[in-house]
Amino acid sequence: PLVRYITAEGNEYEAEVPVGNTIMQGAVDNMIDGILGECGGAGACATCHCFVDTDWSDKTGEAGDSEQEMLEAIPGADERSRLSCQIEVTAELDGVVVHLPAAQF
Ligand code: FES
Repeated sequence: PLVRYITAEGNEYEAEVPVGNTIMQGAVDNMIDGILGECGGAGACATCHCFVDTDWSDKTGEAGDSEQEMLEAIPGADERSRLSCQIEVTAELDGVVVHLPAAQF
């Protein structure tokens, strides 16, 4: 499935991400700046914060409780915010659009 990453500056990057990988891994593997993923996807660092495009939020689902707690501590987070390591890529997500924050801290 294709994942589209749009930076805070408006640049768009596309990556083919295998089913079962996460949106965080897709960005890191394709050297897309804006997602760091420092904890390797454990949901513990919050450096993989992204904003899921509102057209796609039904398909990506909602943050779990512990993810929600992490999101609340991130400056600039809003109702579109997710930890991209907690979003697994599925066939249904082909073409999904995520917006990247200007910075991860
Ligand atoms: Fe650390 Fe997502 S990679 S919370």
